[in-house]
Order: sequence, then structure tokens, then C-alpha cells
Amino acid sequence: MWQYPHLAVILLALCGGAQAQPLLAEPIRPLPATATVDPARAALGRALFHDLRLSRDNTQSCATCHQLAHGGADARPRAPGAPGGQALRNTPTIYNSAFNFRQGWIGRYRGADQVLEHVMGTSPPAAELVASRLTGDPVMSAHFSRVYGEDISAALVKDALANYLKLLVTPSRFDRYLRGDKAALSRDEKSGYAKFKSYGCVSCHQGINVGGNMYQKFGAMREPAPDAAIAADQGRFELTGRAADRHMFRVPSLRNVALTAPYFHDGSVATLDEAVGAMFKYQLGRDAPLQDQAQIVHFLQALSGETMPPRGALP
Ligand code: HEC
Ligand code: HEC
Repeated sequence: MWQYPHLAVILLALCGGAQAQPLLAEPIRPLPATATVDPARAALGRALFHDLRLSRDNTQSCATCHQLAHGGADARPRAPGAPGGQALRNTPTIYNSAFNFRQGWIGRYRGADQVLEHVMGTSPPAAELVASRLTGDPVMSAHFSRVYGEDISAALVKDALANYLKLLVTPSRFDRYLRGDKAALSRDEKSGYAKFKSYGCVSCHQGINVGGNMYQKFGAMREPAPDAAIAADQGRFELTGRAADRHMFRVPSLRNVALTAPYFHDGSVATLDEAVGAMFKYQLGRDAPLQDQAQIVHFLQALSGETMPPRGALP
């Protein structure tokens, strides 16, 4: 059913109408106010996140590309791959990623369990490789035995990272609005949200992450020219080999999107205004008055976290 975004909106509207709570009438859900994680494990995960040994050639940490001060992404169109290898896609934000139904632009990974693969490769298995590198380090060993009471292992590396990622949640003014604080958004931002819904952006960008819960084709209503650079990436087809998956991508989360330029899987678009314009053209197959587009951009800016977590707050 997700092939038909407009149908999805109708279904959501029906489901929303059947609920008693006013909150549920909205197709977007607020982020939880608190995260349930083990602070000691998350602190260990945070140390790992900044550790260069978590890249294949020991030159980059997770934070090199997923920069916490740059909306959880970086400013490059594409991330460099392993030396001599292929460039990766654009770096998506690390914030709120735990709420995406799959990880990565084409949904290749199923969560923190597998996501190490995009920096470490699959052979030998990424987490085993990290664990074996860290085992010789007495400081790390001491951390692991203090936190887990066990020696370093692949499973514990993944668990510590997963705990940290769950902490990287960025509630915004829009979340306050969804919880009933009508003054949390300006008039323009509210109009932008209304237009985000009425034009149908919300048929794809919805749920807790304003995206991140379905696959959609890039070019749903109008395909980019076959020779356009953006059309070169085959999307989920790369993974499944099914013709129907050509140019299918996981719909990205729009949380913090004002902070994560450049845009799209190939980072080919420099500004949010252009990205919104491209969505009208390719995903909705229509044009819209510039004022409406500008209001939608205002709304998207209100999705930036008010409190960006934690840089120094952890034990
Ligand atoms: C060289 C830059 C780079 C480094 C280093 C890096 N990442 Fe990524 N990360 C990316 C790119 C690019 C993607 C998207 C890959 C794709 O979908 O093809 C990504 C995707 C992700 C995602 C999925 C986010 C989403 O919304 O889909 C998570 C989670 C993630 N990385 C966590 C990590 C962790 C944890 C580390 C450290 C072990 C790390 N990354 C290191 C560039 C990087
Ligand atoms: C048919 C589904 C669909 C609709 C409708 C849709 N989008 Fe998207 N959106 C996507 C997909 C898929 C991508 C990822 C495209 C890519 O990079 O290949 C995306 C990407 C984006 C991005 C870039 C995010 C990033 O991090 O790079 C923005 C911004 C965006 N959409 C906003 C909007 C707005 C605003 C509307 C309404 C005018 C809209 N979208 C309508 C599916 C949709």
C-alpha cells in the first residue's frame, strides 16, 4: 500500500479519526520526552562513537561523518568510502535514527546491530573486528568489565553503541506543538505544517521521525531524466535486484533537516529551498506558489532540536 502515498494519507486520517486522543489525529507523532537507556552503557557507546578504531583503516570515528554539531551529519555531498573504494552516499543524520524502521538510504541495515558494516565492511564481521581491535587495550577492557562485568565482545560493542544512539534524540518546538502547546510554532510555521499536509508531503514524511517509516521511489510522479546524475543511483534495486525497487529509497527523516545540507542521497542539492522545490516537481508532480514553499521551509526549520543531546553530560 505504501506505493500509493495518497491512499496512505487517507488511511492514516481514518485511523486518526477513530482514536479518542486529539494527539492521534496528527500523522506525525512527538518524540518521547525521555529516553530509556542505561547511562553507563551509553557513556561507553559514546566513547566508542569517537574512537578511530571503529573505521576499517583507523582514520575515522563515527563522529567524523556524523558530526553532532552539524545536525548529526556533515557538510560533504558524499562520504568518502574506504581508501580505493567507492564513495558512500550522503551522510544521514545520526539524531533520532533509532526511530527509523530501517537504517541507511536504501534500508540496508536493521539497526545498530548491522550498521557498523557501512564503515567496517562485512568480512570479517564488523563488530567482531572492532572487538578484536579493542581487546588489546587495557583502558577499554577496564571500561567494559566495569560496565558489563564481562570482557569485550562483538555483542557488547553493539549494545553500547545502540544505547548511545538511543540517547541522540532531539525534541523540537514542533514536538511541543504536537503535545498541545499551540504557541510553540509561529503563524508561518503553522501555515507551513498545514501545507505540508494538504499538498501531500506528509503522505511520505510522517510518523515519529517525519519520515523513516517507508520506502518510496525518487521520482514518484515525474522521473528525473535518465542521464541526470541523481538517476544514476539505483536505490534499493542494488539490494534486492527487483525491477520495482529501482530508485526506491527509504523516505528520510526530516527532523533537523535545516541543519543537514546538502540534501538527497547524493548530496546534489545545496539548499533546503531547492530540496523542497525538487520534491514538488518529482514527488508531487506539480508546482506551488513560492510563498507556500517558503512556509513549508519555515515549518521544516521548526523541526530542529531545541536541546541537542549530550556533549559532556554523560558520566
Ligand atoms: C565515512 C563517513 C562515515 C563514518 C565514519 C560513519 N558513518 Fe554512519 N553513515 C554514513 C553514510 C554515508 C551513511 C548512509 C549509508 C547508506 O545508506 O548508503 C551512514 C548511515 C548511518 C546510520 C543510518 C542512519 C539513517 O538514518 O539511515 C547510522 C545509525 C550510522 N551511520 C551510524 C554510524 C556509526 C555508529 C558509526 C561509527 C561506527 C558511523 N556511522 C560511521 C557515513 C559514515
Ligand atoms: C512520494 C513520496 C514523497 C513525497 C510526496 C515527498 N517526499 Fe520528500 N523525500 C522522499 C524521498 C524518497 C526522499 C529521498 C530522495 C533521495 O535522496 O533520493 C525525500 C527527500 C526529501 C528531502 C531531503 C532530505 C535529506 O535529508 O536529504 C526533503 C527536504 C524533503 N524530502 C521534503 C519534502 C517536502 C517538503 C515534500 C512536499 C512538498 C515532500 N518531501 C514530498 C519522498 C517523498
